[in-house]
Amino acid sequence: MPPQTSPGKQLRLLNLGCGARFHPEWTNVDRDPSDRSVIRHDLLEPLPFADRTFDAVYHSHVLEHLPRDRAVPFLRECRRVLRPGATLRVAVPDLEELARLYLESVRRTREGERDWQHNHDWLMLELYDQVVRTRSGGDMASYLRDPQIPNRAFVVERLGAEALQLMRPAPAPPTSEPSHSASLLRRLWRTARHPRRLALRLLLGADLELLDTARFRSSGEVHQWMYDANSLGNALERAGFVRPRRVKATESSIKGWASFMLDADPEGKAHKPDSLYVEAEAP
Ligand SMILES: C[S@@+](CC[C@H](N)C(=O)[O-])C[C@H]1O[C@@H](n2cnc3c(N)ncnc32)[C@H](O)[C@@H]1O
Repeated sequence: MPPQTSPGKQLRLLNLGCGARFHPEWTNVDRDPSDRSVIRHDLLEPLPFADRTFDAVYHSHVLEHLPRDRAVPFLRECRRVLRPGATLRVAVPDLEELARLYLESVRRTREGERDWQHNHDWLMLELYDQVVRTRSGGDMASYLRDPQIPNRAFVVERLGAEALQLMRPAPAPPTSEPSHSASLLRRLWRTARHPRRLALRLLLGADLELLDTARFRSSGEVHQWMYDANSLGNALERAGFVRPRRVKATESSIKGWASFMLDADPEGKAHKPDSLYVEAEAP
């Protein structure tokens, strides 16, 4: 019998915006690498690879973080680095399912199902907090850290096992509220320890907080747009891909997909159950 070779060793595979979910047999890229092996690169810039380099390109929960008008140019870059006939696989939060559940939550709350009021609150966070937040984690993180989450099962069903990791208690609050002057002193001390920040504080005054907000909002954490199967398929076609089709977490034309466990665990359970998965071919 010939020796078994892992598909990742025979193929060139690219995972863009990998975050903490990457496989060593893939070339992994992120603006904010979580590991030394991950290539640091801003996906709003052209990809640092030659034309027709890869047998598959994959990105999960990344496209919605790019400004709407940059999505198609980014997908064109994905096509450029793919070999003809190779696969692009995209996972994004599924707007259609989210909207369907939102409407269901409105109806069931109106009909007096008290549990659905909590589901409605959560769905509003999924829809809006991810778009409008001005600090990391936003109100969603606060909701998940509440030790008494009223609709824990619903939230876990939406976010999968990742929700459980986020449901850790927040650090203990200070035993007493610092006085106004003490907190001002602390802010000044923090600023003074960082000369660049001190210079900016002197230059911008209170506007420094606006700069912090702008910086956070362009950090890649917030959602800049959302997709359903129709609009994602259209975007892929506009970028020059052919045959866009919806697939399951475990289903792919990428050889050995399940073995990489990028979208699902070994039992086939999706890491991010709120996802829409679409694959398309480079012509
Ligand atoms: C929601 S996380 C998804 C991570 C991973 N793909 C997953 O499915 O768990 C989005 C990732 O995209 C990255 N990202 C967002 N905007 C980016 C950009 N312009 N360039 C490179 N990476 C970006 C973030 O740093 C983050 O790691």
